[in-house]
Amino acid sequence: MKEWYDAIQNAQSVEKLEEIRVSVFGKKGVLALEFAKMKTATDEEKAQIAKDLNTHKSALTNELMQRKITLQTLELQEAMRASAIDVSLFSSKSQSGALHPVMETMDKIIEYFTAMNFDIKTGPMVENDFYNFEALNLPKYHPARDMQDTFYFKDEMLLRTHTSPVQIRTMMSTKPPIRMIAPGAVFRRDYDITHTPMFHQVEGLLVDEEGIVSFANLKFILENFLKYMFGDVEVRFRPSFFPFTEPSAEVDISCIFCKGCGCRVCSKTGWLEVLGCGIVDPNVFKAVGYKNVSGYAFGLGVERFAMLIHQIGDLRSLFEGDIKLLEQFQ
Ligand code: DAH
Repeated sequence: MKEWYDAIQNAQSVEKLEEIRVSVFGKKGVLALEFAKMKTATDEEKAQIAKDLNTHKSALTNELMQRKITLQTLELQEAMRASAIDVSLFSSKSQSGALHPVMETMDKIIEYFTAMNFDIKTGPMVENDFYNFEALNLPKYHPARDMQDTFYFKDEMLLRTHTSPVQIRTMMSTKPPIRMIAPGAVFRRDYDITHTPMFHQVEGLLVDEEGIVSFANLKFILENFLKYMFGDVEVRFRPSFFPFTEPSAEVDISCIFCKGCGCRVCSKTGWLEVLGCGIVDPNVFKAVGYKNVSGYAFGLGVERFAMLIHQIGDLRSLFEGDIKLLEQFQ
């Protein structure tokens, strides 16, 4: 019997202990076998065997119970140790995400114009010739189409080259007055340090009754906007040409790097071109069936703004998914 006491003491798991219990107390267990031997014993021996066996029986039961409690306690402690969190350990630096600089710039632009009561409008990126060109006073074979290196599909479909088609879609689906901006991705066959085939623009359009909207209104809102984006800069309007506006202007800010003294970024001019604008051309209103209205429009490239704000040299780096670069904007 001694070996069973040892076995109980040496059992290392509750599971092993259960095996031992079955071997000792089971129907074919050691005790049952020992009791069976009584059949062939004399009456005197029987009394002694029964006494001995009953003593072992209760002693082993006791041992089993004690050992089980000990093992259960150990197993519980082990489980608690294994699942414990060591709050004193150094953690690896947690990584928080951040907005992409282009989206952050886009948000700031949107913030300004929504505060000025402009609605946000969107349109499809796969456009047709009518919305992207024709209705914007860019008839077929117009030389100004060349400025926009277009990706064409079949059947007059194309990837929109600017967000200006959203002007047309909005005017054709709503009545004036209109006060909208259209942020979104646009596409051109272009790739160098200041151009990527996909980039973002924000288009703006304001339309009201004839004679109400003036170039002075346009100047006011854009000057204010550019000061909001770039701080204390000077703003100048330069006559330019866009088919959808007449008169048209390009807008410059005084160089934010050299404060207008002339540096590499502004090509020694002291000015940085940042957007295009103008008074909506009557041909555009004709194309959408608007009569007796006046309006202004403007369009800007979001990447250009982000590059200037964050002093990014190569626009392409923004779209290479380089974590090292993007982390700087957290
Ligand atoms: N659509 C022009 C472009 O992509 C930007 C633009 C210029 C939009 C003048 C306008 C505008 O609405 O009036 O280059």
